[in-house]
Amino acid sequence: MTQTTVESTAQPVLLMLVDISGYTKFMVSHGKELRHSQLIIGALLESLMDQVDVPLRVSYVEGDALLLYAIRSGDADVWRRRSQNLVVRLLSLFEVFRERLLEIGAYSVCKCGACAEVGDLKLKIIAHSGEALLTHVGEFPTLSGIDVITVHRLAKNSVQEDEYVLLTEAAYRDLGLPREAEVREGSEEYDTGTFKTYIYLPEVNVTLDEEEIRARFSDQNAAVKILRDEVSREYTDVASEPDRGYHFNIGRAALAMNGYEEEWVDRIPVSSVASFSGMGNPFQMGMPVEGEYVVDIGSGAGVDSIIAARAVGPAGHVIGVDMTQAMLDKANAAKAELLLDQLEFRSGYSESIPISDGWADLVISNGVVNLSPDKDRVFREIFRVLRPGGRIQIADITVDKEIPEGAKHDIDLWTS
Ligand SMILES: C[S@@+](CC[C@H](N)C(=O)[O-])C[C@H]1O[C@@H](n2cnc3c(N)ncnc32)[C@H](O)[C@@H]1O
Repeated sequence: MTQTTVESTAQPVLLMLVDISGYTKFMVSHGKELRHSQLIIGALLESLMDQVDVPLRVSYVEGDALLLYAIRSGDADVWRRRSQNLVVRLLSLFEVFRERLLEIGAYSVCKCGACAEVGDLKLKIIAHSGEALLTHVGEFPTLSGIDVITVHRLAKNSVQEDEYVLLTEAAYRDLGLPREAEVREGSEEYDTGTFKTYIYLPEVNVTLDEEEIRARFSDQNAAVKILRDEVSREYTDVASEPDRGYHFNIGRAALAMNGYEEEWVDRIPVSSVASFSGMGNPFQMGMPVEGEYVVDIGSGAGVDSIIAARAVGPAGHVIGVDMTQAMLDKANAAKAELLLDQLEFRSGYSESIPISDGWADLVISNGVVNLSPDKDRVFREIFRVLRPGGRIQIADITVDKEIPEGAKHDIDLWTS
């Protein structure tokens, strides 16, 4: 059972409200923009939380804000040392935030309002010092008291700029900004009191060239999450409603068109056959050999993995990797039905394949690489998991003309 413990007396605390602004209108809309704005805000908040370290702690994450706190040590020397570190951390949040915005922008392929306006998002930090009663509900710390109310009230203030640190006099004294930091004085009045404030406008000069951005590719990048989310939604539908009608060929007809032998197809559970959505036939380049280890990137409902598992036999092994749970469920149901011990499905991404270096004799893939926002990375991963001298057999779409910029940034074209 969850236990609630309350500290008996209020403690001296430094409170910091970290607030992302610029998105309120999408939070009340529906569909794609709401989903994308939440993925973007969530990924940004995660990046900011990664910077939080003792003595700073997260009290809560709510909507587009984080409440952080540090219990102020009674020993003045100890606190001075801690507070210097806190200031550096606080100011670094602006840089981290701006870097993430550039990284998201670089991988964004969506034109919806939420994605198009990523560059307009801003960061505000409100700092206030005072006292708070600490309650632990299970492992989660909750703060209460008049100063906690005040730090929230301060989020609505008279500052006109859209990116700043606002410190109350008490926080300014407690934190001690660097001597060179220019601050402006102000004042705010609420039902909890009148507060003298210090406003600091951070200078954030962050630039990243294309090479740096490519090197920073991350599963946590919000634009990558958004593209994967949309692709996964599409293939969840292909898994759960194969008869609905799609812009691409699927199922038995697609297998016949791509030259799969009927005799193979007849020995695969109909539910997997129905959700086949490959774009070609990787086995036209040759069959896996008995005893080989094979990886199938983007294995979908498992058709190619099953064919490969039969070819390698019990002495071999096949690992299908896919990011869409509904596809993995179908593939695993087929594996259970066929009792193929040498067949395994793993949840994972083609850009970070969950398989050790040099494991595979052969990597196959069918209709998947075109869906990746970083195809070079997929190929680096393929080479990493292949043993020296291993083989690659990929069926996919290729284009021999430059793709118009508008099409590159149309997420609906990526997913269909
Ligand atoms: C066009 S379907 C092909 C499925 C399967 N290869 C077949 O031939 O039926 C694409 C599959 O790749 C998966 N996929 C797309 N992007 C992926 C990524 N970045 N990492 C892992 N799987 C991905 C999707 O979930 C989907 O199951």
